[in-house]
Amino acid sequence: MSNILVTGGTGYIGSHTAIELIKAGHEVLIIDDLSNSTIESLDRIEKLSGKRPIFEQFKLRDSAKVDDFFEEYDIDAIIHFAAYKAVGESVAHPMMYYKNNLVSLANVVDAMTTSKVKNIVFSSSATVYGQPDVLPATEETPVVPAESPYGNTKQIGEQMLIDQTIATENFNAIALRYFNPIGAHESGENGELPTGTPNNLMPFITQTAIGLRDELKIFGDDYNTPDGTAVRDYIHVVDIAKAHVKAIERMIGGKSESQFEIFNLGTGKGFSVKEVIDSFEKTTGEKLNYSVAPRRGGDVEQIYASTDKANKVLGWKAELSLDEMTLSAWKWEKYLASKK
Ligand code: UD1
Repeated sequence: MSNILVTGGTGYIGSHTAIELIKAGHEVLIIDDLSNSTIESLDRIEKLSGKRPIFEQFKLRDSAKVDDFFEEYDIDAIIHFAAYKAVGESVAHPMMYYKNNLVSLANVVDAMTTSKVKNIVFSSSATVYGQPDVLPATEETPVVPAESPYGNTKQIGEQMLIDQTIATENFNAIALRYFNPIGAHESGENGELPTGTPNNLMPFITQTAIGLRDELKIFGDDYNTPDGTAVRDYIHVVDIAKAHVKAIERMIGGKSESQFEIFNLGTGKGFSVKEVIDSFEKTTGEKLNYSVAPRRGGDVEQIYASTDKANKVLGWKAELSLDEMTLSAWKWEKYLASKK
């Protein structure tokens, strides 16, 4: 049993990870500013895991608060989710992203050094690969200049951790590069809660089907893919959460092969936008209202992960299918509607 600080732990991936950590026997402490989540997330974590995490609400940009927290609690390792993640918003307000995403990480790493906490898992993104020339994308696939300040904060965040591992003996970091996390807890009682109009595909689909949006726009059907729509590696959020438990236990157990490690988190299989819609319609029996619109700026044509390293080295494999992702996302959307 270890004490794990989960920053951003009331958010979409953070809350699912908190549940899996508690189920694996760990103690969870959460810091979140609730800028993109609500306090009810704690009730959901408690209900689905059987235990309520310790929780404090503040901004990690406030270094004094971060230092106080590290003084107050015994922490064995950190999973750092807390960050802004809307690509378009980051283009419009770059400094908001650099300040929030990078100053927060610097404060956490500083507090770790002072408190001699050695292990951190960092939420990174497949966005660092841009459009790779060769697929699937492995961890060796070149990182290309970021298309957005959001993407840049992921690249700089990884580099900050590399620099810290060079400067500090015994400081270990694992960057997990997520492909496209979607879906919800199998109970339908925890999932993604976008504020405002969703940018991402899955919440837009479920909100359209439930009547919150008129119509889904498919951004482009003239890509060089089998059905013309863009291809992504969608991965169930609960599989993503379980990978975090593996990564944390790997570091705490002293099994890291180097101070900085990277793992792709994907299924290894690409699905097109149309295939996601087909899966949704098939599993839910709902008819989705959609039409084709022009491509969205900054989108890549297709990307999916090589999962070899995560499978062999981390000892983790995504288990849930696309149908389980779309059905669970729908259960969650209906659960939200039932609470209104
Ligand atoms: C996006 C971000 C990525 C970020 C990730 C996590 C961009 C360009 N990329 O990934 O940097 O790490 O979210 O939040 O924003 N689609 C539609 N209609 C919609 C919404 C999406 O057709 O209303 C399509 C997109 O064009 C894309 C696919 O669905 O082909 C997936 O989109 P999305 O869920 O936004 O994820 P990414 O763009 O892959």
